[in-house]
Parts: sequence; structure tokens; C-alpha cells
Amino acid sequence: MSGSILPEKVTLVEVGPRDGLQNEKNLVPTESKIAFIQSLKQAGVIEMELTSFVSPKWVPQMKDAEEIIHGCLDDQTNYVLVPNKKGVERFYASRADHIAVFVGVSDSFNQNNINRTTEESLQEWQPLIQNLKMDDKFIRACISTAFYCPYEGRIDPEATFQLCRRFADMGVDELSVADTVGMANPKDVYDVFSHLQKELGHQLSITGHFHNTRGTALANIYACLEAGVTRFDTSAGGLGGCPFAPGASGNVATEDVIFMLHEMGIDTGINMDSIIEAVNIVKPHITRQLDSKLYDLKQQASAQN
Ligand code: HMG
Ligand code: MG
Repeated sequence: MSGSILPEKVTLVEVGPRDGLQNEKNLVPTESKIAFIQSLKQAGVIEMELTSFVSPKWVPQMKDAEEIIHGCLDDQTNYVLVPNKKGVERFYASRADHIAVFVGVSDSFNQNNINRTTEESLQEWQPLIQNLKMDDKFIRACISTAFYCPYEGRIDPEATFQLCRRFADMGVDELSVADTVGMANPKDVYDVFSHLQKELGHQLSITGHFHNTRGTALANIYACLEAGVTRFDTSAGGLGGCPFAPGASGNVATEDVIFMLHEMGIDTGINMDSIIEAVNIVKPHITRQLDSKLYDLKQQASAQN
């Protein structure tokens, strides 16, 4: 890492309503999810993953996806996560125009997550992405297990680059590159993201997606900033985790990232206190401890007053 010039502005893509809630056992009422999303938008979030069109048998929490889209679609950047052809059909019917597709570098993870090998998923996506592009849809490709797989262990960076190249060749607009189980370290993150920025940064956006299982997510975000990355997926309250990736705990908390960036003089356009207020809307339905330093501090301060 080299002490390079840091950006003045960073974009945070809020994934709380999707990644944040998908792993919660309790079904969060649809109206609370909609109020959560609207409150996040009021806090200044302009890019957000709203929900996913996955199988309700596999992920019951996302079974109200159509209602969420109906209640929340506006002229901002709203992504819907989609695993396959059936999900694309639901995407078209919903009138959303930003799609997030997801494939794992590791076959074992992809098989557990969407019941296909990585290559089978790519074969399925190729013609679908061609059509989505013809219809002028924005396509974000989420690259899971880019550093570690819960079943196969360490991932060879070359395998991650190969998968990114395959999506870049299909013409996607963005790569969201994920440390699914929160095992990556800042040095590897710097190396992988520097490489991706150099090789593909001129043709698409590159975004970092960090789960905070071992407390390294903020350090990894800083490493990304040094590598020239200016987009990060974050989740209000540090909610999150993939039901099919054992050990994947919450995403890095939006409010913790905002605090760090704002203290560094980097603008996000988002109000940190308002994010914490948004978290309070879903908190009563969440069964596990939140992983958010700023949320905890705010609660302690209110308890003392
Ligand atoms: P499958 O069982 O192989 O599906 O599941 P199938 O094609 O054999 O179809 C079986 C049944 O599912 C059929 O219904 C289909 O219609 C239905 P039936 O005839 O039995 O009534 N079906 C669907 N229903 C609704 N929406 C669909 C859909 N597709 C089929 N899209 C499938 C394959 C992909 C559906 C399943 O494995 C699945 O839903 N997986 C989703 C897993 C998931 O949501 N994981 C979390 C998101 S990824 C993530 O969190 C990682 C990320 O954050 C980055 C990171 O951190 O790494 C993005
Ligand atoms: Mg994730």
C-alpha cells in the first residue's frame, strides 16, 4: 500500500434490506421493511438493494419481494438480486431496471447457494445478460467467495479475476466483489482490487462488499480506497449474512463506514444519525446482536440521558 491520494466522495450501496434481512429467522413484516427502506432513503441513501427474487422455499424472508418493489420503486437506483432465469422473469414483471446477479468463484459455494456449478450459472447468465443489455437494464454482478470459500478455503486470486473477466466480457456495468465469510485481510484486498481497477476499472464500476465476521471490514475498505475503489456495499446496523455460507456474519455497518469516511473528510451524502433511526424500525424483529459500534454508542448515550 502506498499512501495514494484518497477520494473526496464515496458511494455507499445500502444492502441492509436484502443481505441484511435474508439471514434473519423471524419474518420481518413487509410494512416494517418498506418503512426501513423509506427511512434509509430519507437518510440520503441513493443506491440500494431492495430485495431478491430468489426461491421462497430457499429464503422465506424474501417471499414478499414483489410487494417490496411495488411499495418502494422510485427514480433512484434500486437493485433487485436475481439468481436465475425465473428470477429474471419476475424482474421484468416488476418493472425494476437495476438487476444484481450473483455467482460464486467457488463451485462448492455456488452449488450450495444456487444449486449450480459456477460454469452452469455463467452458461445460464450469458443469454439473459445479452437480453437485459438490449433492454438497457443496469447489470451489477456480485462475485461471491472472491477471497475465501466456507467449503474450499482460500481462493486463488486468478480464479476471481477469471470470473470477473467473464462478466466484464458479457458487458455488465458493475462488479461487486465480495469477501463472503469475512476472512480477507487488507493486503490481499489491496492486491486484488488494485489488479481489478487496473484491468477492468476503465470499462465498469468496481465495488467492495465486506462481511465483518472477524472485524477486518473497515481495514479492508481502507485498503480498497488506497487501491482506487470508491464504491462499497454496506448494511445499516451491520445486519447481514448468507444463509448458505456458514460463518458469514453481518455486512460492515453503514453507520460505522460513514463515521470513518466522514472523519477522513470523505463525503458520502448520507446522514449517520438517520441511518441509526432507520435501524430502530427493524430492530424489534431482529433476533441476533447487531454488529455496529456506532449503533451501540448511540444506545448507550440514550440510556444515560
Ligand atoms: P432449485 O431448487 O435448483 O430451482 O433452486 P429449480 O430451478 O429446480 O426450481 C425449483 C422450484 O423453485 C420451482 O418451483 C421453480 O419455479 C422455483 P416448483 O415447480 O417446485 O413450484 N424457482 C423460483 N421461485 C422463485 N424465484 C426464483 C425461482 N427459481 C426457481 N428465482 C434457486 C435454485 C436459485 C431458485 C435457489 O437455489 C435459490 O433461490 N437460491 C437463493 C440463495 C440466496 O438467496 N442466497 C443469498 C443471496 S447471495 C449472497 O448473499 C451473497 C452476496 O451478498 C455477496 C457475498 O456476500 O458473497 C450477493
Ligand atoms: Mg453478502
